[in-house]
Formats: sequence, structure tokens, C-alpha cells
Amino acid sequence: MAMSAHPAVVLALGSLLAFAGLQPARAADAQPAGATNERTVIKMPPDMRAEFLDHMSHHMAALNDVITAVASGNFQHAAQVARDKLEVGAGKGFGRYLPIKFREMGLAMHRAAGEFATAAEAASVPPSAENWKVVSGKLGEISARCQACHATFRVE
Ligand code: HEC
Repeated sequence: MAMSAHPAVVLALGSLLAFAGLQPARAADAQPAGATNERTVIKMPPDMRAEFLDHMSHHMAALNDVITAVASGNFQHAAQVARDKLEVGAGKGFGRYLPIKFREMGLAMHRAAGEFATAAEAASVPPSAENWKVVSGKLGEISARCQACHATFRVE
């Protein structure tokens, strides 16, 4: 039956997402021709960089929680985590070091998380085959935003 295949698809997607988050240079390799590994360097003091990377680790953990919830068919929980942990940007101290383009890409990720949550909240319980398709697609849109920024910037 088609539905039973979906969690496996989501899990496979999850491994890819984790890879995209942790291997930014490799993620850049997956870009179409024209995008290179030459990422824009954002400079910030060491304590701010540590805070920034810690913030990113929380994003990774949140995305992992969202994927796990989706894979188990618990779309309401996935929506809640996305809203609480990914939709809202935290106004941290490192914010002042971030260029406009970074902020825009950050906003796009937060927006994608909100759209994912809206789709997941609208799903029936248990989710229909169509719900699986839509919600998995929206999940991929969140990770695409993580990946796009990792391909564009690095911090020093
Ligand atoms: C607007 C830009 C942007 C977005 C969006 C973004 N990141 Fe990052 N992330 C960065 C930058 C820049 C780094 C540092 C990369 C470097 O210096 O090589 C980073 C680093 C990381 C790291 C490594 C942390 C460490 O301790 O080294 C993880 C994990 C990570 N991001 C996960 C995520 C996940 C998951 C998402 C999406 C939910 C995400 N990021 C969205 C810009 C972004």
C-alpha cells in the first residue's frame, strides 16, 4: 500500500538533510553550475561565533525532531516543533554581524517552517496519502533553505 512507503521516504530524506547541515561544502557541490564553493565569509568575535554555531546546532536538533515526528506520522507534533523552534528567529547578539542577504535567507527558512507547520496542522489524523506528499514536500522546503544558506556563507 502506498502509504506505508512514505515514512521510509521521509527517513531517507532525513539522512540527506542531516548530511546537508553538517557538510556545507559538499552541499555546495550539489548546486547547479555557477554556484561554487567560494562562500562569503562572515567575520565575528570568537564568543559570538560560538553562540552562532550553538544556535545552528539547535536548528539541527529541531529539524531532526520535526523529521522524526513526520516519520512517525505525528504531524501535529511536527507542526508544534517547527513553530516553536524554527519559525521564530531568535534575536541573538550575533545578529548585528549578519549581512542583509543572510537575514533574508534566514527569514526564508523561518517562513518555510511556518508554511510547513500550517500544512502539517491541516493534515487529517491519521494523515492521508495526499497529506504525506504535501507535508514531505514542505519539509524539503525547510531543508532547502538550510542548504542554500550553507552554500552561500561561512563564519570565521
Ligand atoms: C541564513 C543562513 C543559514 C540558515 C537559514 C541556516 N544556517 Fe546553519 N549555518 C549557517 C552558517 C553560515 C554556518 C557556519 C558554516 C561554516 O562556517 O562553515 C552554519 C552552520 C550550521 C551547522 C554546524 C554547526 C557547528 O557547530 O559547526 C549546523 C548543524 C547547521 N548550520 C544546521 C542548520 C539547519 C538544520 C538549518 C535549517 C533548519 C540551518 N542550519 C539554517 C547559516 C545558516
